[in-house]
Order: sequence, then C-alpha cells, then structure tokens
Amino acid sequence: MKKFSVVVAGGGSTFTPGIVLMLLANQHRFPLRALKFYDNDGARQETIAEACKVILKEQAPEIEFSYTTDPKEAFTDVDFVMAHIRVGKYPMREKDEKIPLRHGVLGQETCGPGGIAYGMRSIGGVLGLVDYMEKYSPNAWMLNYSNPAAIVAEATRKLRPNAKILNICDMPIGIESRMAHIAGLKDRKEMCTRYYGLNHFGWWTSIEDKHGNDLMPKIREHVAKFGYVPPTEEPGTEASWNDTFVKARDVCALDPDTLPNTYLKYYLYPDYVVKHSNPAHTRANEVMEHREKHVFGSCNAIIQAGKSSAGELEIDEHASYIVDLAAAIAFNTQERMLLIVPNNGAINNFDPEAMVEIPCLVGKSGPEPLVVGNIPQFQKGLMSQQVAVEKLVVEAWEERSYQKLWQAITLSKTVPSASVAKAILDDLIEANKEYWPELK
Ligand code: NAD
Ligand code: G6P
Ligand code: MN
Repeated sequence: MKKFSVVVAGGGSTFTPGIVLMLLANQHRFPLRALKFYDNDGARQETIAEACKVILKEQAPEIEFSYTTDPKEAFTDVDFVMAHIRVGKYPMREKDEKIPLRHGVLGQETCGPGGIAYGMRSIGGVLGLVDYMEKYSPNAWMLNYSNPAAIVAEATRKLRPNAKILNICDMPIGIESRMAHIAGLKDRKEMCTRYYGLNHFGWWTSIEDKHGNDLMPKIREHVAKFGYVPPTEEPGTEASWNDTFVKARDVCALDPDTLPNTYLKYYLYPDYVVKHSNPAHTRANEVMEHREKHVFGSCNAIIQAGKSSAGELEIDEHASYIVDLAAAIAFNTQERMLLIVPNNGAINNFDPEAMVEIPCLVGKSGPEPLVVGNIPQFQKGLMSQQVAVEKLVVEAWEERSYQKLWQAITLSKTVPSASVAKAILDDLIEANKEYWPELK
C-alpha cells in the first residue's frame, strides 16, 4: 500500500495532538511515511511537536517526524497539507467576540462581525499556505479546515481558482453523530443524508438508514422537544455547546421540512444570543481556560516524563473525516462527503459562483458535487444575504476597501443598522492593525 507524506499547517493548534492520534489509529487505511508540522509560532508549536514526537516514537517509530517554521522545509515532498491555522490566535478570537458585544451585537468566532474580522485575518494566511504548497509540492492536495471556512473558501475560489484545496467542516459530522444516536443507530455512517447550504449555514432535507427507511420524522420529533441532545448525553459536552445543541429546538421550528445546522441560531435568534452572552467572558476565554490549558498541560507532562501515559491527550474521533477525505483522494474511494465547493448549478436556483456546502463524491481528481435542485424561498433568501456578506469580505480584502467591508458588516443579519456596523468596523480596524490590509 502506498505511504504518504503529510504536513500539518498550524502544528501548534490545540487540535494537532488529537489529529495525530487519529492518523495513527488509521494507519491501516491511510499509511504515512512522513509527518511534518509547520507553524509560524515556533515556541507554541515546539510544545505540541515534542509531545507528539514521544507518542510517535512509541506507536510508529517508522514514520519520519519533524517540525519547522521554514515553509520550504515544511512544504517540500508532501502529498497532503492538513491546514488548521488561526491567524491572531486566541487573543484575537477574544477581540472578535468582545468588540461586537460592546455594540450590542453578538460576538462569535465565525458568524457576524467577529467572523468577518477573523476572515480578514485568515485570507492572507491560507493563501500563503496554498502558495507554499504550489511552489514546493505542486501535486499535493490541501485539506483545509481553517476558519472562517466560508470566507476562506470564497477567497480561494476567487483568488486561487486552480488550487488543489478542499474546504471542509466538522459541524455537520458532529450533528449527524447526535442524529444517529437519537435514531438509535451506533454510527453516523449508518445514515445516508442530503444537506445543502453555506458553511455554518445549512439544512438537512433527508436522513435515511441504509435500507432507505426515512429517519427524518423520528429525529425531528426529538429535536423539536430536546434539540440535538440525545437521550443519553454525549460525554464531555461543555455547557455552552450544550446550550447550542438545545437551541436547535427553536431553530428547527422555522421550517417543518428540514433539520438545521446549529450555527443558524446566530442568524435567527441573535437577540437571544446577545442576552445570553457575558461581554467580559466569551467562548475564547472558555477555550483558553480549558482546552488550551489541558492540551498544553498534557503535552508538557508527556515531554517531562518522556512517555505518553503522563498526559491525557484524546483521539479526535470526529476528525476521522479528515482521514476519509485524504483516503478518498489517495485511493479514489468515491466516498460521499459534505464539502464546501463552487455551486456551479448544483443548487439550481442559486448563484453559480457561490461556495456552497453540499454532498460530493470524492475521488482522485477531487470532488464531484451532487445535484441539489431547487431550494425554497426562505433558505434562498437567507443564503443570498449571507453569501453576499462573504463575497463582500473577500472583495474588501482584495481591494483594501473600507466601503465594502462596511457594506459586508451592514448586510450581516446579525447587525441592526449601518451606523452600528460602522462603529463595530472602526473598533475592529483598530484591533486588527497588525493583521488586516490597510483599508482605503
Ligand atoms: P490554535 O490557536 O490553537 O492553533 C492555531 C495555530 O495556527 C497556532 O499555533 C498559530 O500559531 C498557527 N498559525 C496562525 N497563523 C499561521 C500562519 N499564517 N501560518 C502558520 N501557522 C499559523 O487554534 P485552534 O482552536 O486549535 O483552531 C485551529 C483552526 O482550526 C482554527 O481556524 C479553527 O477555527 C479551526 N477549526 C475548524 C473546524 C472546522 O470544522 N472547519 C473545527 C475545529 C477547528
Ligand atoms: C465546530 C465548528 C468549527 C469551530 C468549532 C469551535 O467544530 O465546526 O468550525 O471552529 O466548532 O469550537 P470551539 O470549541 O473552539 O469553540
Ligand atoms: Mn466548522
């Protein structure tokens, strides 16, 4: 079986150890010959990498492992780039979330003005990775899950149209695991689903088991009462995420025919979200206090003891979709997966140049999107507004345009007026001086 060389870009990410453990658990179907980490923060990456080095030595000493901040070294001789960078790291996420809240608007990592601010930072970072890949390993594929994936995907569609990049998100996978649970199945892969939308902005239209039985009525009945909270709770769900899964109950009330992505709560119930936010302590603070502390604490313990049992790093089970995607390309499996791709007619009554999240068959030459057909007015209206926001952000970044970014924030369904949009924008510009292009 052919063996592959992978570089993880954003080697210092809190998700890197979980992904390494997941790659190790899947060596039978996606074998590695080399694994590299790349990050532009050498110190942050070193802690994660030294701990992973211990794990790799124990479990798979035959895989050649290295880490670097040098793009040439990182991107030379690789088959896949797995990209999860966060430009500006958690301190900037904290600002994305807190600045809009100061103006009475919700603060979220990927939605509303916070997501727009993050997008303005991520575009350059991800395009940089694409360029390194094309320069040093032109035949490689990039599997990108750096956020905000919707804006990043639009940027790569428009500015690097020929790049071999696949944009993907784990939220539908997490929700589908919960749906499977609700339906009494063991695994989400026992279901066949239809879904359409934008990233963090979509709907399931059909959920069947492998025999073609319709599971939608049973799952909808449950979601209408309890949201995406299964009868026996998924272990380790944090309170703030649990609230989001419960809120799907109200989100699904808007359309009796579909089941929604949890992120729609930010667009359909922004007043509720603001009321339930603490402007002094947001999700970024929770993540820094919990996940980041836990992952870095475990890595340091592993490094000190020289053995993996000294830490508590967990395999990222949900991240197996990344192996599915890599294996689909590597071995032409034609697996059906949700990807963020150019619409190009798949949703018949929607902008062909929009980046949409829809099922695709994935093989060695990339994704083959499946036809969705026509979508209803409600979804079409919401998606048209949101896709315009995403396109305006990319145009604003490309043209260095204050005007277009003001339009983008004004158009976001989460923002009440152009004057509030302008006040938020001016604060975001101040906070993002180091990361955004200077706007004219
Ligand atoms: P993190 O801050 O722990 O890690 C990100 C790393 O990226 C940091 O080590 C940072 O130094 C590095 N980085 C920043 N800019 C870079 C650049 N230009 N080049 C190289 N490295 C750079 O963040 P995290 O919480 O672990 O999340 C990582 C990313 O994964 C985020 O974008 C997050 O939103 C995304 N994510 C996406 C999904 C999805 O479904 N699409 C799921 C989980 C996480
Ligand atoms: C889901 C989404 C990701 C997002 C993450 C945030 O997995 O699909 O796009 O980055 O949630 O999780 P966090 O724990 O960092 O708030
Ligand atoms: Mn996502």
